[in-house]
Amino acid sequence: MKDTLGRSIDYLRISITDRCNLRCEYCMPAGGVPVRPHDEILRYEEIERLALVARSLGFEHFRITGGEPLARRGSAAFIGRFAGRLAGSDVALTTNGVLLAPVAAQLRGAGLGRVNVSLDTLDSAKFARLTRRDLWAEAWAGIEESLAVGFDPVKVNVVLIKGFNDDEIHAFADLTAGRPLHVRFIELMPLGEGTGMPEGFMSADEATATLERSGGLVPLAGAGVPAGAGPAESYRWRGGLGTVGFISALSHMFCDRCNRLRLTADGRLLPCLAGGEHFDLRGPLRDGAGDDQLAAVFRLAVEAKPASHHMADAPAEAGRVRRMSRIGG
Ligand code: 5AD
Ligand code: SF4
Repeated sequence: MKDTLGRSIDYLRISITDRCNLRCEYCMPAGGVPVRPHDEILRYEEIERLALVARSLGFEHFRITGGEPLARRGSAAFIGRFAGRLAGSDVALTTNGVLLAPVAAQLRGAGLGRVNVSLDTLDSAKFARLTRRDLWAEAWAGIEESLAVGFDPVKVNVVLIKGFNDDEIHAFADLTAGRPLHVRFIELMPLGEGTGMPEGFMSADEATATLERSGGLVPLAGAGVPAGAGPAESYRWRGGLGTVGFISALSHMFCDRCNRLRLTADGRLLPCLAGGEHFDLRGPLRDGAGDDQLAAVFRLAVEAKPASHHMADAPAEAGRVRRMSRIGG
């Protein structure tokens, strides 16, 4: 599907829950956020149906996100089934990894191709501080098990936070030396609690320069770039097996290459990460709409995609409207 600016929209990010088993400081307040009651959350069959409608419209890439998707009851079985139903399309999972190790083999066996694990520090004490949960070892086990069962690629998403993990950029890059891991540094966006941390912002350029200064960062193109690299700039670090990438959602907008829609856990389609309109699918779905009526809602959302976001101009506004645990990153 093409939007009004000629961008090809073929990627659907699906949040299956707004709940999470961590409380990352930049995402949620310590006490968590009010979560939607269960009947407002799409059932697994509803999600599957919407994804199939999207596929009939030409969507080829699907990513399951949250909150923390694996924190929803029955999610591992669902994700496996989903990957099977959408076989032939690209299906991926974004998780904080805490609950991943025990189900990784099952998910791989069911046809899930690749995983992104969010991990912002390699230090378990810092992890406990940032996420307010002492679960670093579990998250790390999720990454190791993902490599062991053969997900390809396995990506590690690191949100850059000045004064917190800017001293770990080399350590993260070094993870790519002996393992086919793809580490991606992501700019902290003014969303959720992130609006209250402007002093924590570190640009992707700054992180890139940090590695460039020590030598051994080689830009990649074409076949070297890991599948689904999306807006990341990819590099090889000191001849390692994996890659290092940088995602600058804020400092260099890549809206001109945007290819996605987001489906929230409560069944709304969002044309843009940063705010603006949304389109309800849950209502029509539960009122017995046919596939063509649901497809029409997808078309409206694609048509409503803005040319670009304005997070940098009005961060507080964007943050109030949107929270990552609601929209799945
Ligand atoms: N800025 C950047 N990334 C964020 N995430 C959550 N909140 C923010 C924010 N304010 C990330 C998580 C995870 C992904 C789903 O979104 O760390 O990598
Ligand atoms: Fe959970 Fe992700 Fe938010 Fe952390 S950033 S609290 S892992 S949803």
